[in-house]
Amino acid sequence: MDELVLSNLSGTRDLLPEEMAGWHVAEERARNIFERYGYLEIRTPIIEPTELFARGIGGDTDIVGKEMYTFVDQSERSVTLRPEATASVVRSYIQHTMCRGSGITKLYYIGPMFRHEKKQKGRWRQFYQVGAESLGSDNPAVDAEMIEMALWFLDSIGVKGRLLLNSVGCGNCRPGYIEKLRQALQENMPHFCEDCQRRATTNSLRVLDCKVDRCQPYIEKLPVITDHLCAECSSHFHKVREYLTDAGIPFQIVPRLVRGLDYYVRTAFEIVSGDLGAQNALAGGGRYDGLAEVLGGPPTKGIGFAMGLDRLVMVMPTEQSVGAQWRPELYLAFMSEPAFKRAVELARILRHRGHTCYVEFSQGSLKSQMRQANKLMADHVLIIGDNELANDRYAIKSLRESRQWEVTLPELIDYLGSYREKAKEPGAQMAEPPA
Ligand code: HAM
Repeated sequence: MDELVLSNLSGTRDLLPEEMAGWHVAEERARNIFERYGYLEIRTPIIEPTELFARGIGGDTDIVGKEMYTFVDQSERSVTLRPEATASVVRSYIQHTMCRGSGITKLYYIGPMFRHEKKQKGRWRQFYQVGAESLGSDNPAVDAEMIEMALWFLDSIGVKGRLLLNSVGCGNCRPGYIEKLRQALQENMPHFCEDCQRRATTNSLRVLDCKVDRCQPYIEKLPVITDHLCAECSSHFHKVREYLTDAGIPFQIVPRLVRGLDYYVRTAFEIVSGDLGAQNALAGGGRYDGLAEVLGGPPTKGIGFAMGLDRLVMVMPTEQSVGAQWRPELYLAFMSEPAFKRAVELARILRHRGHTCYVEFSQGSLKSQMRQANKLMADHVLIIGDNELANDRYAIKSLRESRQWEVTLPELIDYLGSYREKAKEPGAQMAEPPA
């Protein structure tokens, strides 16, 4: 018989319960802030026809050429685990005719993506993105609002990011620039790495993104797109910068910033962190005005971004998630079989009232139950012995205050109710136990 497979695939990982508090905080704040801007959640399938990404992202990109998890399914159809979500969201937008006349459709998503990349710190083969897409407008104020929202979200989880900004032109001005770029590449071709030499003809913009040391001095000398923008792209770029400045958002123009997906036009941006190492991009995004047409839909303007949740959680200060760690409000300790039954009954009543209660099923001594309550960081322990059962009065101990007092069930319900209300207050002081 085959040996059991006891470990996960390289580049994937289990996110264990003790790691989840940070994820929950980040996801909850993203939802909260994105919804304030009018973005609504969309969930698209994790598997899509391969063609969607080949067409949407571009056949010459690393993602489509090297990194997709693609297989043929039982219906002989080529299917791919999504490497990103923009193509899927635009597909869904077209399929469900979400276009609202002249209005904007704002969508956000949270979920796993898959890319067969070389494993590295902050780079996974299954990773998670939180992203947003705005469809239906090419107003540069939309670009600025989107960037503002991304930065505000980062700020809300205590993460500092630097905004890098560029314009990658459009179908009018980019071909002329690419011609100039190719000529310049030809002049120094032997100095570039093999990948760059190949890209010089297939996808010359990608050369600008090469990280190989020997290419850097030659990349420095290549012409930059911002010197070759048409009047419309130039004006769009100017307005985006103006709106960002009005909003007090600092940015750095990086004329060599090109993104690894072919759908971008005009605005392209990244938010990078100094705390991440080589994989320093927290977020990437930009405008993709022609993507809907490429996918067979009507002309639609669009802009969006996605952030790597794995990376966000890595750099998020731990104090952000302290309050979000799971812990019981009440640990019910019991000292006999009848007391156990009462503990189960009380836990049921209190859970229905919204309290987090913990009852241990393996019967141990009171001492071992107290030890466990401390380990679980329970706020309180309720002690149920035969006397307590007989009188319907229980000893409650606050582990935070090191105090103990007696309660009947109605008193316990009242106390836990007010304890929870106080805990919700900003800078919460926990409810004082009655004297
Ligand atoms: P992207 O730059 O490929 O853009 O990915 C966005 C973010 O996802 C990156 O900045 C990074 O934080 C995270 N990320 C990417 N690959 C990995 C990986 N292998 N491991 C961990 N994190 C990763 C997009 O995906 C576009 N769809 C963004 C967009 C939305 N553009 C317009 N709308």
